[in-house]
Amino acid sequence: MSNVFRVPVGDRTWQRRGQSAHSPDAQGDAPRLPGIVAGVLAPHPPHLLYAENPPQNEPRSEGGWEVLRWAYEDLRQRIRAMDVDVIVLHAPHWITMVGHHVNCVPNPRGFSVEPIFPHLLRYEYAFHTDVELAEAIADQAHDDGLVTRKMRNDGVRVDYATITALHLLNPDWDIPVVSLSANNNPYFYSTSSLDQMHVLGESTRKAIESLGRRALVAGSNSLSHLHWDREQGLPEDMTYEHAYNHHQYRWDMRFLELIRQGRTRELRDLIPEHIDETESETKAGSLTWMLSALGWPEGIGEVLAYGTVIGTGNAVCLWDLEKGAR
Ligand SMILES: [Fe+2]
Repeated sequence: MSNVFRVPVGDRTWQRRGQSAHSPDAQGDAPRLPGIVAGVLAPHPPHLLYAENPPQNEPRSEGGWEVLRWAYEDLRQRIRAMDVDVIVLHAPHWITMVGHHVNCVPNPRGFSVEPIFPHLLRYEYAFHTDVELAEAIADQAHDDGLVTRKMRNDGVRVDYATITALHLLNPDWDIPVVSLSANNNPYFYSTSSLDQMHVLGESTRKAIESLGRRALVAGSNSLSHLHWDREQGLPEDMTYEHAYNHHQYRWDMRFLELIRQGRTRELRDLIPEHIDETESETKAGSLTWMLSALGWPEGIGEVLAYGTVIGTGNAVCLWDLEKGAR
């Protein structure tokens, strides 16, 4: 990998030039500035979408996992207020063995089935890609030394994690999307392969800024990831839902405390340790990519909710770079 531009940890370049947290425009609204507006940690258990009973999904449920779903409901309102041009998402289950791929298909559509839980997620999707930005991210990542590919195969089925996270963030699907693949190196080598996710995050930010997009970046990972391997009757029967073990829970709480306190520098150091201790899905790099795109901002970070899904830890979190300006 070539040498790349690096933002120091805890750097505050995320505060955009000319931006003042107290400089509303004449209408009393925040100025609509280009760049990354916010980052979110947006987990994708299919159970959460299943529990919402949207018309696009075939299976029907009686609900369940309400606290996490209420957090997504809150997040959706806040995203609406941000008025973004695009959602850029990195999720773990579009796995590419060589390099980082970007979906450049203008109008992905099809039927997404969760392979482990086909009784929970059989979802008919259709959305629009911001192709210009998708290509710019791929080009920038290539220039920054990463192996990249522009995926142009119309008809390739979009993975369930991408669909689930995007639905939970914006069920109206009226905001264009850029979808990034998950290079699987960390699963074969070590968490040191997360280095590439730092670069990809920086490349993403540069591409967004070069095109003047107003963007939300979403990393779609669960936290602790050991889980049950047997389903107890009704999937949404919450009497069976709890943390897989105390060890995972404690580590997730340690992780979330750093987010709540805005201690992003320490969080960055904790990510590999948290992976080792809890088999955290952050190993796929989505969280690292997202926080790198944000420039590892110190002093902000909200945990909207934490809950378990089949024993895994899941948190809905927000880093709002314009907080106070709206
Ligand atoms: Fe997953």
